[in-house]
Amino acid sequence: MSASNQKAPNQQASVDASSHSNAAAESSVAEHVENPKRRRLLVQSAAAVGGLGALALAAPMIGSMSPSARAKAAGAPVEADISKLTAGQLLTVEWRGKPVWIVSRTEETLKRLEAETERLSDPDSTVEMQPVYAQNSARSIKPEYLVVIGICTHLGCSPSYRPEIAPPDLGEQWDGGFFCPCHGSKFDMSGRVYAGVPAPYNLEIPPYKYIDDGTIIVGEDAGVAA
Ligand code: FES
Repeated sequence: MSASNQKAPNQQASVDASSHSNAAAESSVAEHVENPKRRRLLVQSAAAVGGLGALALAAPMIGSMSPSARAKAAGAPVEADISKLTAGQLLTVEWRGKPVWIVSRTEETLKRLEAETERLSDPDSTVEMQPVYAQNSARSIKPEYLVVIGICTHLGCSPSYRPEIAPPDLGEQWDGGFFCPCHGSKFDMSGRVYAGVPAPYNLEIPPYKYIDDGTIIVGEDAGVAA
């Protein structure tokens, strides 16, 4: 028998006990009060007390969810500590059930992003898949940090982070970026999609903001939750 099946009789017993005590209270009041008007009033009061008891039973269940679990379930903004992120590293945080990547980029990477644009499908990010503050070649608030949703815009696979230059399996022209193994879509180190691959759009940039140099809030910008 599963754990959930074992719990069921206890839960049922609580509900039954509650309804029995309500019924007992109602019948006991009904038996001893002759005046019909007063009797009706007391029966209603007894039922209301029974209802409060049921609420009291439910309250511990609601209270037992931790604040972080409730916040996650509601899709609340997520805080990311980037203070220990070194050049080239990728940090993943989860926001609304999606992986959000934060990548620390080097000066050389940023230079390549400005130089190599002719092979890209939408180098200027004209299709709206990012907040306005990320509509630049770095697609970010601070050029050195990319914040991007790690889901391929073709059919939703998770691309691999491949920051190396010209690895044998990706070829001479690979300048570092993200490679989706499902159908071969390629994205640069700003999440911009290359032309001629299945993915139609650049990777999506979520709303985010800095609260200090080492902390990013994902899911909130300009003080407004997304
Ligand atoms: S899901 Fe990424 S290329 Fe198809």
